[in-house]
Amino acid sequence: MKVISIINMKGGVGKTTIAVGVAYELAQSFQKNVLLIDIDPQTNATLMVLGEDMYKEKTVKKLTFSDLIDSPKDLIGEKKTININDIITCNPWKIKNCTMDIIPSSINLFETKNQLTGRLFPEQFIKIHLNQISGNKYDYCIIDTPPDFGKMVVSALIASDYYIIPMKPDYLSQQGIIVLNEKINQISDHLSADFLGIVISMIPTRRSTYSSDTLTDIKKDYASKILEEIKFKIAYSKWPNNHEPLKNKKEREPFVNIARKIIKVGINE
Ligand SMILES: Nc1ncnc2c1ncn2[C@@H]1O[C@H](COP(=O)(O)OP(=O)(O)OP(=O)(O)O)[C@@H](O)[C@H]1O
Ligand SMILES: [Mg+2]
Repeated sequence: MKVISIINMKGGVGKTTIAVGVAYELAQSFQKNVLLIDIDPQTNATLMVLGEDMYKEKTVKKLTFSDLIDSPKDLIGEKKTININDIITCNPWKIKNCTMDIIPSSINLFETKNQLTGRLFPEQFIKIHLNQISGNKYDYCIIDTPPDFGKMVVSALIASDYYIIPMKPDYLSQQGIIVLNEKINQISDHLSADFLGIVISMIPTRRSTYSSDTLTDIKKDYASKILEEIKFKIAYSKWPNNHEPLKNKKEREPFVNIARKIIKVGINE
């Protein structure tokens, strides 16, 4: 199983949209078995895929990523250890012949993630748990991360084979990438993850001079490392409401392209 984290400390740059889109296309277009993990207490990927009712049910039943950290107590108050396999929601989008499973997040993660600090090797948390999943169950695991560089994101990076950085074509996003790269360099001794590339997202369709200048700059800076460009489209901003896959082929295309590149990197290794 190859693990890929979608990261950026900056918020609202398209991480969740790309994580869900790519996870879905790896399964639907390329018949891969995929596990999507939401480690963001904002629960955006979870809501997008499962919808509110199922999200609430998973939270009440303590079947979320947060419950891996804060194991539920049994009737006499003893903590039950839960296994990562117990919190997987199977194939919510009912893909035929393969699967996109999800480990949901929960709003409780805002609190429970602080418990990681007291643990031994908090940065190994995700890696240790992923090792509990049978090696051939999934081809890919996609991790949607929160907009920070806290212990959970570091833990995701340490568990990863690759990481992808989504960004918007604006000045502050450009500056953000510099800081993000510094943070990644600081922990590079502990990482085996390769940088797969940048996805520039939310590119205005009618380009203002400003955004097209920034886009040119970004392309110059990162030349061969631009994985994909995604236009700003209303369909993408409405997508989280639908709790189902995108249907339009053109709209799916950027995610299909990224999925294809992920598979190609694996073949070339
Ligand atoms: N290409 C796009 N065109 C239009 N809207 C988009 C596009 N990509 C994402 N969006 C919308 O922009 C908002 C932010 O996107 P998204 O949630 O994917 O970003 P994020 O980086 O995961 O945010 P956060 O850092 O808060 O987790 C969402 O409402 C999403 O639906
Ligand atoms: Mg997000």
